[in-house]
Amino acid sequence: MVKRNIISVLDMKDDMPQLVELAEKLKKERGNHGEPLRGKTLAMIFEKPSTRTKISFDVAMSELGGHPLYLSARDMQLDHGETVEDTARVMSRFVHGIMYRAFDYKMMDRLGDSATVPVISGLDNLEHPCQALADMLTIKEHLGSFKGKKLVYLGDGNNVCNSLLYACAIMGVDMIACCPAVRMPNAEIMLGAARIADQNGSKILASHEPLEACVDADILYTDTWVSMGDSTSEEVAVKIFKKYQINQELLDIAKPDCIVMHCLPCHRGQEITDDVIEGPHSVVFDEAENRLHAQKAILLTLLK
Ligand code: CP
Ligand code: NVA
Repeated sequence: MVKRNIISVLDMKDDMPQLVELAEKLKKERGNHGEPLRGKTLAMIFEKPSTRTKISFDVAMSELGGHPLYLSARDMQLDHGETVEDTARVMSRFVHGIMYRAFDYKMMDRLGDSATVPVISGLDNLEHPCQALADMLTIKEHLGSFKGKKLVYLGDGNNVCNSLLYACAIMGVDMIACCPAVRMPNAEIMLGAARIADQNGSKILASHEPLEACVDADILYTDTWVSMGDSTSEEVAVKIFKKYQINQELLDIAKPDCIVMHCLPCHRGQEITDDVIEGPHSVVFDEAENRLHAQKAILLTLLK
């Protein structure tokens, strides 16, 4: 079998609906899966901190009968001069899959190219594909379908936003990236997503005006204003992003049953207000839980 990486949402372009369905099925099984990954090891390399990604991959591997192996990049030769290519080739002799959280997407690509086992991105500076799959599962659970739904992403056009653009385009969700002009999503990804959306009869749009973009939205989505590895100061970020905060004023112009999403961790009082994240529209903790189920679907598809 040809090995498969998932380092961009585009790597799920042909089977994202099936992956969402598999994740739904696995969620219903509540951890009783009959150990389909018995004897398999997933190595997880982290260059940056993580709560959700680390724990959900760890538990996913255990519940599927396999073995998770946590590795901090700092403690590996990778951080002391060994090339990522040699690291990938050596690791491929020991383990059945590699999950990698990297600063630089070029390192992710190099690992993906050199490993002979599947490589799964646990986030880099360009994308966060596992988050986007969990987000699609969350949308399906709460809204029932994708076509014709309107998602407005507010704030920094970052890795999470880039992956959402592709995921929405693939699943047929209309998406507006509502970001300041200086922090729009990756231009190539915007274009690529718009092309896919075109084929699916949906729309990918950009806006700088939250009060216009959020009218009749089904989903309001935000993420931190300063991502890991971003040198923007909090003071500057507050100035740039202030009007993109998800608050009651924006919720009031969205659809009455609008859901509010955030990949977490969040900064209450910055990109989202405390009352909104704790309010009845917020689905952020379902969204966090769904990382587990979405990643099980990915692990089963790539490692079984
Ligand atoms: N959403 C997400 O990836 O969270 P962590 O950084 O805690 O893994
Ligand atoms: N955009 C954030 C996501 C964290 C899960 C970051 O890269 O830090």
